[in-house]
Amino acid sequence: MSRLEGLHHYSGLELAPSERFDDEDTNHPQILALLEANMRVPSEKNPPPSTITPESLYRRRREVLKMLGLGAVGLATGCHSHAAPPAAEATKIEAIPGAPLTIAHKLDDAGDETQTRYKDATHYNNFYEFGTGKGDPSANSREFHPKPWSVEIAGHAERTGHFSLEDILKPHPLEERIYRMRCVEAWSMVIPWVGIPLANLLKRFKPTSQARYVAFTTVNRPGEMPGLRRPVLDWPYREGLRIDEAMHPLTLMVVGMYGHVLPNQNGAPLRLIVPWKYGFKGIKSIVKIEFVETQPITTWNQSGPDEYGFYSNVNPAVDHPRWSQKTERRIAGDGFNLFGNRIATKPFNGYADQVASLYAGMDLRKNF
Ligand code: MTE
Repeated sequence: MSRLEGLHHYSGLELAPSERFDDEDTNHPQILALLEANMRVPSEKNPPPSTITPESLYRRRREVLKMLGLGAVGLATGCHSHAAPPAAEATKIEAIPGAPLTIAHKLDDAGDETQTRYKDATHYNNFYEFGTGKGDPSANSREFHPKPWSVEIAGHAERTGHFSLEDILKPHPLEERIYRMRCVEAWSMVIPWVGIPLANLLKRFKPTSQARYVAFTTVNRPGEMPGLRRPVLDWPYREGLRIDEAMHPLTLMVVGMYGHVLPNQNGAPLRLIVPWKYGFKGIKSIVKIEFVETQPITTWNQSGPDEYGFYSNVNPAVDHPRWSQKTERRIAGDGFNLFGNRIATKPFNGYADQVASLYAGMDLRKNF
């Protein structure tokens, strides 16, 4: 696969995660049939997608029954309905694995928008170190060890060195922030993240006046991350922010989601969330934070400089060279709407009031 085929085998024909969250769905014939149905012109032989009932709806029902301890009853009474369970039912019983976190403050910065289900947010991922398919990170990250973890702080700061994750986090109360996340591939989610403002963390290391940018690096463990064995990107994954972006109060260093510790596929144990930028700026499984003087090399920008800028602020006025950025497919709520939920993309992902001033006087078409 060429490097650009990464984010990049995007064709506008993705499946909603709810239709493929079971790991074994990756090559599921029903799913392949659905994709194909969408690609082909509808005909009698070839019905439009809306007339096809995905098997996963049926499987979801089985799963619901199983969790309620009713699996056997359901089967005994011939309860093989293809109807989806009501959203409330599915949401209510959604079990969140992982240790619960103690949260000091909560902030809903997604304006009451419907949240993405935990299962969707954790089974429809981009984490190429575990593979390029949306189901690969959940399927292939089970052998990854996010504990113990240490982070190197380097560059233009008074305090540098290697610090354990516990030491890094200890002084900071955890906050929950509900943010929209807009992927450059034109899908989006609404996720309750748990973390600390990056600014509070960075200040403790006393960056000097030469620290104009902050560079982040992901861990590089080919033994635990099978995707690293393929040269899809120039590993390790790297990202960067201007220091004022890094210090902005919306920028979050994340350790959890949905009130619990971050699952491996979402970037355990430490990842970045910058809600007004495309999702690829949210680098996962961070092992190094470096204060630098010049704009750092970032993975996607290096891979496709014409397609992925350093800034990567969400901007519906600047299309990706291969697709429009005017709208996005919102993956939220019951998630069963396979081809719908398309909404208008907002400048800065709806956070313009808070962040537009960071870019005053800049040409955002050039600095995309
Ligand atoms: N970080 C690393 N190290 N590797 C990746 O492949 N993918 C990015 C970003 N962070 C990626 C990464 C992309 S393209 C997106 S959209 C988000 O992670 C997805 O985050 P999520 O899987 O938690 O939704």
